[in-house]
Amino acid sequence: DGFSAEKLFSQGYSYTYDDVIFLPHYIDFPTDAVQLATRVSSNVPLSIPCVASPMDTVSETCMAVAMAALGGIAFVHSNTTPSEQAAMVASAKSRRVPILSSPVFKAPSGRIESADDFGDSPYILVTESGSAKSKLLGYVSKVDWQNRNDKEVKIYDYMVNSSASVPSSFDLGQIDAFLEEKKANFVPMVDNDEVLDLVTKEDVERIKGYPKLAKGSVGADGRWLVGASIGTREQDKERLEHLVKAGVNVVVLDSSQGNSIYQIDMIKHIKKNYRELDVIGGNVVTINQADNLIQAGVDGLRVGMGSGSICTTQEVCAVGRGQATAVYKVSSTAYKNKIPVIADGGISNSGHIVKALTLGASTVMMGSFLAGSTEAPGAYEYQNGQRIKKYRGMGSLEAMTKGSDARYLGDTAKLKIAQGVVGAVKDKGSVLKFIPYTMQAVKQGFQDLGASSLQSAHDLLRSRTLRLEVRTGAAQVEGGIHGLVSYEKKYF
Ligand code: XMP
Repeated sequence: DGFSAEKLFSQGYSYTYDDVIFLPHYIDFPTDAVQLATRVSSNVPLSIPCVASPMDTVSETCMAVAMAALGGIAFVHSNTTPSEQAAMVASAKSRRVPILSSPVFKAPSGRIESADDFGDSPYILVTESGSAKSKLLGYVSKVDWQNRNDKEVKIYDYMVNSSASVPSSFDLGQIDAFLEEKKANFVPMVDNDEVLDLVTKEDVERIKGYPKLAKGSVGADGRWLVGASIGTREQDKERLEHLVKAGVNVVVLDSSQGNSIYQIDMIKHIKKNYRELDVIGGNVVTINQADNLIQAGVDGLRVGMGSGSICTTQEVCAVGRGQATAVYKVSSTAYKNKIPVIADGGISNSGHIVKALTLGASTVMMGSFLAGSTEAPGAYEYQNGQRIKKYRGMGSLEAMTKGSDARYLGDTAKLKIAQGVVGAVKDKGSVLKFIPYTMQAVKQGFQDLGASSLQSAHDLLRSRTLRLEVRTGAAQVEGGIHGLVSYEKKYF
């Protein structure tokens, strides 16, 4: 019944996740017996197969900390100076609890104009200069301000003076004990006169509800795993130096077409000079491309070309591949060489994750799926009554103007050609909340397939035990929500 992957993917069609569907197999274990432990690259193990994309609207310090806390990893983007990128990596690696807030700062001589000044935070922190990088003097709580509601009065007239803080090296238990002892509802996290975060009692209680969070992905250095992206130009060797000093655990060579002499040279440079550092090559979508990078010595492969939600590469350049086919084909050669594959782009639900992993990937890399989260860079805005966050392609003109054109090897060209768009995604809340739910859904998918781990899913696929089919257009409509006058889409 159905087809083997080998047969299905050798008929001359380029399929994406929605085109294909797995046939259910036999269940002889509970959902919780499913293990999602994996590797993002040969020497970097993760406890969940989730990776945040190196994009400037997705992965900075906050996302890196949260993904590591969840047992995944984020790659801090390189659309910034080498020292800024390295500082983000170092900052993420210094943490021991997921960052929870984006504190708002004011100087004592300032005023609070309205409750909106508090943003999402119940407190405004008062520092000498009104920025994060200056001495902490005290705070104003939103409740106090609302009771007073006087925008004429200067902050120093009513702020609570307090420089109580904890260092970023404190773990959840230590922060909890501090709040208990001081009978406090929150505490700022401060290192060297820089306020890094503000942790509330509520946050501590919430994290305690996810017991696995406190452990997270820990590297051989005993600290959280953090990745970063670099390009393949000469100056990227210097960037790499900065990142290595900051303690980066793995780097990805960020390119839309990774099978190039530039990338092969960079892989060789890294393997020769940084023996301890894993390097992921890509992006690739064919067996040929993958084999070239494997031969050059990569520790992981990133797969996808034009499948991302903000991508226009296939339209602009006429090259790419349907993501299901690309993941299956590249994984088939990577598997023989024991190189983990990252399925990058096109993930918009847990079913896509199940498909990517079963077709041979070891992890999924996500952009739009994470960009609406609290942990993604940037502030929420409102559009037609909806809370949204900006999300842009690294090949969009806007991002390339900031420097990301190297990804598209367009650095020497006078005319920049966009291969991506600028858009926005819906507010999704914290990744600390929706990723655990998504992983539970993935486990249920694995259970239906009779696969109790990624390895067993790959084995079922390769032994042709796992069967699949292509869905017609009508079958895809049937597989989605249909025929209702109205509905509310809520998964948890
Ligand atoms: P999702 O679907 O998760 O995709 O939003 C994220 C992935 O898309 C790639 N990416 C781009 N591809 N033009 C492209 O053709 C772009 O401007 C662009 N920006 C990101 C990248 O692989 C990312 O992980």
